[in-house]
Amino acid sequence: MRIDEALRLARDALTASPTPRLDAELLLGRVLGRDRSYFYTWPEKQLDGDQQRLFELLVKRRAAGEPVAHLTGEREFFGRRFVVTAATLIPRPDTETLVEAALETLPDMPFRAVDLGTGTGAVGLSLALERPAWRVTLTDASAAALAVARDNAEALGANVTLLRGDWLEALAGPFDLIISNPPYVDPDDHHLEQGDVRHEPRSALAAHDRGLADLRVITAQARERLADGGWLMLEHGHDQGSLVRRLLADHGFQDVTTRGDLGGNDRVTLGHV
Ligand SMILES: C[S@@+](CC[C@H](N)C(=O)[O-])C[C@H]1O[C@@H](n2cnc3c(N)ncnc32)[C@H](O)[C@@H]1O
Repeated sequence: MRIDEALRLARDALTASPTPRLDAELLLGRVLGRDRSYFYTWPEKQLDGDQQRLFELLVKRRAAGEPVAHLTGEREFFGRRFVVTAATLIPRPDTETLVEAALETLPDMPFRAVDLGTGTGAVGLSLALERPAWRVTLTDASAAALAVARDNAEALGANVTLLRGDWLEALAGPFDLIISNPPYVDPDDHHLEQGDVRHEPRSALAAHDRGLADLRVITAQARERLADGGWLMLEHGHDQGSLVRRLLADHGFQDVTTRGDLGGNDRVTLGHV
C-alpha cells in the first residue's frame, strides 16, 4: 500500500479523534522511523507487509481510545522529544506557558530552581536546557514517573538533580524559583472520563478541594523555601486564576499576576517574595 493511501484510510478510521490526520501521520512516523515531512515528499512510497500490519494495529488501538503519545512512546514539548509512559502525564502545549513565564521573568544568571511534580521532566528539563547556568532539581512522588524523567534527562543531555518526594516536604531550599504544574482537576469533573485523560494516572490529574488541594499545599510550603526575591510559578485550571491569585497574595507573595495559555485562558499564576 502507498503512504498517501495508508494515511487516507487511517484518517477515515480515526474520526472519533479531534485530530485524525495528525494522529495518522504521527503513527506512521513511528512505524517508518520518519518525521511527517517525509510523507509529503514521498506519498507514493510503498509500505512493506510488516509496516502495513503494524500501522493498522496502531490505528486500531488509537481508534479504541489509546493516546497517540502512548502508542508512539513520545511527545514533543518546547521543541524537544520526551519519552512518555502510562506512568506520566502527557505534556500539554499549554504548559509551555509555564516555561515561557520562567524564561521571561528570571534573568540568565546562576539560579537554583525546582520543578515539583516533574512527570516526564518536561518543564524542569526544558529550563535546564534553555538555561545551562541554572541548577535545576526535578521531583515527583511517583518513582515510575521519576524514572522516565531520568531517562529523558540522559537522552537530552541535561545535568539535573532528581529526587523523589512529597512536594517541598524534604527540600530545604533556598530556591530562586519554585515551579509546578500540579494536579488541579476537580475529581468530579466529567472530563476525566473522556479522551486521552482516561489513560493517564489519576494521581497526576486530580486534586481534592475542587482541584485546589495541591496548589494550596505547594503555596503554603513555598514561602519559607524561597530565597529573597524568589519566584513561585504555578499552572492551574482556566477557572482557578482568581483563586490562585488570592492564595498567593494571602501568603504574602508580591506582584502576583496570571498569564494566559495558547487559547487565551488563565493558566499560570506567578508571584515573588
Ligand atoms: C499534572 S502532572 C505534571 C507533569 C509534568 N510536570 C508536566 O507538566 O507534564 C502532576 C505531577 O505531580 C506528581 N505528583 C502528584 N502528587 C504529588 C506530590 N504529593 N508530591 C510530588 N509530586 C506529586 C504526579 O505524579 C505528576 O507527575
